[in-house]
Amino acid sequence: MIKKRILTGDTPTGKLHIGHYLGTLENRVKLQHTFDTYIILANIHAYANYYQKSEKINEDVYNVFLDNLAVGIDPKIATIFLESGIPELYELYGIFLTMVKHSRVIRNPSVKEEILYKKLDPSVGFIVYPILQAADILGFNADLVPVGEDQLPVIEQTREIAKDFNQAFGETFVVPEAKVGRVARLVGTDGKLKMSKSGGNAILLSDDEKALRQKVMSIYTDPDRIHKTDAGKVEGNPVFIYHDAFNPNKVEVEDLKSRYKVGKVGDIEVKEKLFIALNDFLTPIRERRRYYEKRPEEAKEILIEGTKRARKVVVEVVERVREKTGINKLIK
Ligand code: TRP
Repeated sequence: MIKKRILTGDTPTGKLHIGHYLGTLENRVKLQHTFDTYIILANIHAYANYYQKSEKINEDVYNVFLDNLAVGIDPKIATIFLESGIPELYELYGIFLTMVKHSRVIRNPSVKEEILYKKLDPSVGFIVYPILQAADILGFNADLVPVGEDQLPVIEQTREIAKDFNQAFGETFVVPEAKVGRVARLVGTDGKLKMSKSGGNAILLSDDEKALRQKVMSIYTDPDRIHKTDAGKVEGNPVFIYHDAFNPNKVEVEDLKSRYKVGKVGDIEVKEKLFIALNDFLTPIRERRRYYEKRPEEAKEILIEGTKRARKVVVEVVERVREKTGINKLIK
């Protein structure tokens, strides 16, 4: 039986955090065994975010690459590749740019929200990044796209492009489905709606024990609870949201919650236990990261081979697009 295909990935703007893990990384790690899985290091998206010389972007790309391997993407079964290593994706992007209405592009909520959140004076490339992303996804004819909740409007736009193209030129693209992780959007350590590296409220997958402890101890909790004997609020409290997500000891979590609600536990104990849970979660991730950090040649080979393998898939799809559109007929 032919395996269904996954295409997913990240715009590398820095190291990944535990919110990325819950939103999408966990799904990719799980699903890599049953799907033919491709993971894009979307460096062209990064340029659209913050155009500059490549040193910083390459460093970010490399970190995201290591983060993927660290959480357990197995390069023997999944393919990790560099977006710019597949120039055919630009070709598809160019064709899609001619199809999508300007009015449609400027009302994409993902783009609008990001511009506000990051206070961008966006490049044209940024505003149309969903069209590049559609090329990334449709270039692989992916069936499933694990993403964070904030990316759902982008996948919706990808689906529209696939359908429009199919209607205009005949069945060519699979119309992909999105898949969001078990926690759609993780609160930041400061209690703000969204964990993000640029917001300075993120626990990174690569944080060492010391950084983790410091971050956990400074997590925003219930602001109305002054003394540990005060009754506290559990709902929406970041420290308990993290416990729910990362502490496998459910009995312990329920015990902490019930004591918190009646003022019978201090923040320190709640945070100390969270630190232990998160540290246990991050330990094997740090170890795998270290493995590849010590073996840069092996890591590089994975990326080179992955990009070659991925390109073969896209070349076939794009060749079909050329035929369907008849774009190069006059020179054939
Ligand atoms: N835009 C996505 C993000 O910021 C990254 C991305 C680029 C992506 N191409 C993709 C995600 C294709 C899924 C599929 O996270």
